[in-house]
Amino acid sequence: EKVLKVALLGGGTVGSQVARILLEDADALAARAGARLVLTGIAVRNVDAPRDVELPRELYTTDAEKLVSGADLVIELMGGIEPARTHILAALKNGASVVTGNKALLAQDGAALFDAASANNADLNFEAAVAGAIPIIRPIRESLSGDRITRVLGIVNGTTNFILDAMDTTGAQFADVLAEAQRLGYAEADPTADVEGLDAAAKAAILASLAFHTRVSLEDVRCEGITKVTADDIAAAQDAGMTIKLLAIAELITAGDSADGTAAEGVSVRVHPTLLPRKHPLAAVHGAFNAVFVEADNAGSLMFYGAGAGGAPTASAIMGDVVSTARRIAAGAPGAPGAATRALPILGLDAVTTSY
Ligand code: HSE
Repeated sequence: EKVLKVALLGGGTVGSQVARILLEDADALAARAGARLVLTGIAVRNVDAPRDVELPRELYTTDAEKLVSGADLVIELMGGIEPARTHILAALKNGASVVTGNKALLAQDGAALFDAASANNADLNFEAAVAGAIPIIRPIRESLSGDRITRVLGIVNGTTNFILDAMDTTGAQFADVLAEAQRLGYAEADPTADVEGLDAAAKAAILASLAFHTRVSLEDVRCEGITKVTADDIAAAQDAGMTIKLLAIAELITAGDSADGTAAEGVSVRVHPTLLPRKHPLAAVHGAFNAVFVEADNAGSLMFYGAGAGGAPTASAIMGDVVSTARRIAAGAPGAPGAATRALPILGLDAVTTSY
């Protein structure tokens, strides 16, 4: 039996669930991956911090660098830019493959990571970076790679969907619903990245890059959050048969005339409160759930729905990547599908579609 050494960086809500699954389901995972996945350690800042899941204490270490240097597969769940970026690049340079859920790093620095992965024939997988448990990265990157995706509309932030949905149901104001969401543990103590749309913007950049085979980074995304949405706005939308959702929108736009050869493609990527007809499938996404609606030339419309956050749901996406990455390493052929194959211009708001 082949053995792969797996290093886990981060022992938080998702990391501890990933470690639990690696230990509890070791035999089933080995059968599916074609290799035994041996968890060699969990790198954390404080070995003695309280944890969500009881795991053998000897697994914890503060020496992430050493853990990474001996690994065949690195699971990065630290979040943030540094030191996650340094550890991922070190792993790839060693020829190890990487599974990460780090949306901020991918949205800011994805190009450098993809280049390092392809230069070292390593896999770089990140299903958990967008919409938690929902399989959306692999469907866009692989299942739809023979089609032409024209638009992606996503409810990719659970906190803001919870707030807008509660405003829609109760007629309450934003600030009151936010306070309630914080009390229930849906919203972070510092909800800025969620309510200002920044978390959704990072996910929009990742989805647009994959859907359109180009490079879109966070700074290319026009972003407006939900802090200015009032109870009056919601009531007016209801009167018009609409609902307001915070959408991450990525559109492929063709400008010019294809008949005379002047047609050129560009992309628009944006996050903003959006008026959506109540009959649109995304209007039925309630509470803290996520969904991504994809439009493609041949497939038509597709929708992916589920839990966008939380320890076990996000760990499910991580483990799917771990098994498929391990299978490719075991077969001696790591190297996931490449990223950008072209450079499309980023278009302004004047180019965009306004009907959904
Ligand atoms: N804060 C995010 C959300 C968590 O509310 O959806 C998942 O990225």
